[in-house]
Amino acid sequence: MTRKRVFSGTRATGGLHLGNYLGAVKGYLELSNDPGYETIYMVMDLHAITTPFDKDKLAENTRNVVLDYLACGLDPEKSIITVQSLVPEHTYLAHILSAEISVARMQHLPTFKEKVAQHPDNVTMALLNYPVLMAADILLYKASLVPVGVDQEPHLEVAREIARKMNQKYGTDFPEPKRFATKGEYVPSLTGEGKMSKTVEGSFINLTDSLEMIKKKLSGAPTDSGKGDKVPEKGGVANLLQLVELFEGSDKRKTFESEYLGAGVRYDELKSDLAEAIYNELKPIQEQREKYKNNPVLVDKIIKEGAEKASQIAKQTIKEVKEEMGFI
Ligand code: TYM
Repeated sequence: MTRKRVFSGTRATGGLHLGNYLGAVKGYLELSNDPGYETIYMVMDLHAITTPFDKDKLAENTRNVVLDYLACGLDPEKSIITVQSLVPEHTYLAHILSAEISVARMQHLPTFKEKVAQHPDNVTMALLNYPVLMAADILLYKASLVPVGVDQEPHLEVAREIARKMNQKYGTDFPEPKRFATKGEYVPSLTGEGKMSKTVEGSFINLTDSLEMIKKKLSGAPTDSGKGDKVPEKGGVANLLQLVELFEGSDKRKTFESEYLGAGVRYDELKSDLAEAIYNELKPIQEQREKYKNNPVLVDKIIKEGAEKASQIAKQTIKEVKEEMGFI
């Protein structure tokens, strides 16, 4: 293997939001433009069924993420772009790797506990096994770098543990995958609490949102009187300032901070400028998206060819692992 491999993916639970874009896709793009890396980006539809899902929307949601990837500038000439379930070796390796990690380790993960709290009636084996399938996604391609948001660090730790164990026990050569971080590795929620998340209503801005929609969503973000002797470090105002920094730069953030400590911030202006800045970044993405949306034959071809390329690597890894582990 000459070039280092990069693997990442996004669950097929709907279109991408700003958190996915800044925390993950911007990293995918950066690495795909570096000739030192071979990049593989997938839509994780098998992970999408670990929480309640609608069978009539699964394919559409999957396609929507592919469209978002292409719209953001991922290029099938530079990266393998496809869908997880089209390469069955992911689940094959996941089963093998599940023999190397305990149930207790999975139950103690913060991400598992969060999902249990969100969906107490859906605590399934697939949910418990989520991090093992994710480890399989990465190790199947022997990827050493994984562009993901900071929330995924506990899952990468599991992947590293499994890689170490496999290498020690069976002499496989899995690299211990590291996270590739972007500036937006943690995009806050518009609700003022926690991170921007697809499952929290009112927390996110989608890449497909219009300027009016972005303005409407930002108008609901909580604020305060606009002045005080200390700039808030958490909550609605802190989150807005972080978004200002991400979309309008740190100088603009500093200006608002001085206003907060002085004459006061006018949040209607802050929100309106921020909405424009976000929309300016999204507009070209939305235009590109329309082009791909109107060409489903091309999109299907990209997905199919990506799956063929990925399968070749995947089959080779499975062959090696089976040999090392003493299968027939
Ligand atoms: P998902 O669909 O939940 O998130 C996709 C990516 O978006 C990032 N992200 C964020 N980054 C910054 N701020 C936020 N508010 C924010 N919200 C989401 C996530 O960190 C992620 O990078 N488990 C993965 C999917 C997956 C995967 C893999 C990733 C399955 N197998 C193998 C890498 C390698 C996930 O949570 O996707």
